[in-house]
Amino acid sequence: MKKLVLDLDMGVDDAMALAYALASPEAELIGITTVFGNVPCAQSVANCLAVLELLGHPEVPVVAGADRALAAREPYATMVDVHGDNGIGGVELPVPARAGMGAPDAAGGAAVDFLLDAARTWGSDLIYVPTGPLTNLARAIERDAQAMRSIGGIVFMGGALTIPGNVTPGAEANIANDPEAADAVLRSGVPVTMVGLDVTHQTILPFDELARWRALGTPAGAAFADIVGYYFNFYLEHQGYLGGCALHDPLAVAIALDPALAGMLDINLKVDLDGPFRGRTIGDPLRLHDPQKSSRVAVSVDAPRFVERFCERMLRALG
Ligand code: BDR
Ligand code: CA
Repeated sequence: MKKLVLDLDMGVDDAMALAYALASPEAELIGITTVFGNVPCAQSVANCLAVLELLGHPEVPVVAGADRALAAREPYATMVDVHGDNGIGGVELPVPARAGMGAPDAAGGAAVDFLLDAARTWGSDLIYVPTGPLTNLARAIERDAQAMRSIGGIVFMGGALTIPGNVTPGAEANIANDPEAADAVLRSGVPVTMVGLDVTHQTILPFDELARWRALGTPAGAAFADIVGYYFNFYLEHQGYLGGCALHDPLAVAIALDPALAGMLDINLKVDLDGPFRGRTIGDPLRLHDPQKSSRVAVSVDAPRFVERFCERMLRALG
């Protein structure tokens, strides 16, 4: 069976991605590395530990990663509105009985050690899915590109190729939080699959699904209904036309486990680092003609199939 490592900036949709992964028969979740983004990295560690306990999986290692972007001097300290004042919709979960491994730092040291060790151990059986800023991945490639090239797949949630960004007209949040890291990854030649807003804005969890989670009568069902309920309200207020919330991070996990869910465009990408388009993922003019393409971008998705599978697996994870 494939081995899976998630890299989470543990907000609401990261939590759904984690639940989806735990309920997926295609791969075994062997660890979570963490990063700043929706929340500071230490809060991401705490949220991952708490949600794993809630879902009955206290055995999964949680490892501290980068606490700031490559170019930042200070640790990142923002709680992003869309995910509530603790990253999980303001819902207070029981304090976890264990601590994470390592401590957040500028180099993402513990997370990068864990990831490189997993890459060397599992090689082509390992799938790595970052759903926050790509800082830990950039650091891992900087330290051992060969090891990262040898793994079975790197599928990240982030970017937007055919539609506007969600933080600025050009930039999606995960890329905007560390454009230098994303650019280093995309221009490293290490093969990656990008699951961006192009497809995540097509996969919508309808507003009425939470009632089914609550009706399970379990602590996990009730807590997830509250956590995602907060996220829904934000979507209602800001993007009501979607009819629900976008399943960004769960879709990246789903495509990593079943690439047939998406239609792909092979292209060499870069990130704009200067000017008004800072943070935009776009074709790299210098490598467009190169027959070797290092990025695959999901540009279409079988949304009904994914959403149905997502709903089924969430009921299993929360039941
Ligand atoms: C991405 O940004 C974060 O807020 C979400 O968790 C997701 O990974 C969507 O742009
Ligand atoms: Ca995320």
